[in-house]
Amino acid sequence: MITTARGFSDALDAERAVGRRVGLVPTMGALHAGHRSLIERAAAECDVVAVTVFVNPLQFNVAEDLANYPRDLDGDVEQAASAGAGIVFAPPVPELYPGFPAPVVTSVHVDGVGDVLEGASRPGHFDGVATVVAKLCSLAGRSRVYFGEKDFQQLAVVRRMVTDLSLPVEIVPCPTVREVDGLALSSRNVRLSAAGRNAAGALHRALDRGRAVLDSGERDPVRVGAAMKAVLDATDGVEPDYAVAVDAATLGPPRHLGGEVRLLVAATVGSVRLIDNIGLVLENADAPVAVA
Ligand code: PAJ
Repeated sequence: MITTARGFSDALDAERAVGRRVGLVPTMGALHAGHRSLIERAAAECDVVAVTVFVNPLQFNVAEDLANYPRDLDGDVEQAASAGAGIVFAPPVPELYPGFPAPVVTSVHVDGVGDVLEGASRPGHFDGVATVVAKLCSLAGRSRVYFGEKDFQQLAVVRRMVTDLSLPVEIVPCPTVREVDGLALSSRNVRLSAAGRNAAGALHRALDRGRAVLDSGERDPVRVGAAMKAVLDATDGVEPDYAVAVDAATLGPPRHLGGEVRLLVAATVGSVRLIDNIGLVLENADAPVAVA
């Protein structure tokens, strides 16, 4: 357990100095099986795994959401260790943002991919994410850094940031872990009421509906989005934000869907904002189908 930036950086330098490959798993704590899957993957691929637990104030645009964010550092340390982590870095806020709550004047903004969807609904959110991930990567140094596809746009923003800032890390995407009924695991799920937990199923049902519509041959992103939104609209207690079918690389809607496509939904259930997404690869409708 390390709480200082200097201590964290020195510890990982010391690991590399004896030839160990470093894996990094950035989190905001309240660890669940989704986080554990990232830590286990990192432990399988690296010699030492550091989990960071930091509820980053810069990425919350609603103060209430920050105040309500679940925290359980003792539980997190236990879970991280049992999943294979050797180091937990849990700094107090001023350790990463000196002088906090004085304004943080240096930050990272990723144009384009950071401005749409979650970026449009939560102004400043991805600046906060990109800033803290840049800081964690620069403290960690050369390493493999694990992110969940559950936050697909975050993954896209971080990839772009790492490329553009030439950070010495490799980003490793990991599949979304779900409950048996399909709900994506999220630290926010504990804030759902029983009725809300039920209603939250609409998110992955909307994605399933989008997939079915694409399977039936639809290639118009507007129609696919409308079909998904209809599932959200039809569920009591679910306030849809967006339901879109986009190009997986740009997160923008092409005229016709093809190649790597991502379906993404966001909705508020009770007072809890939830997101989910799935990916699929569509055959190019114009290409002749090879017959064996
Ligand atoms: P947090 O929400 O704690 O998530 C930490 C990591 O766990 C992220 O990469 C996220 O995508 C992944 N994750 C969460 N739920 C998952 C699930 N059900 N299946 C697979 N992976 C899952 O994302 C953040 O924290 C922060 O924005 C952070 C990157 C740490 C920057 O503050």
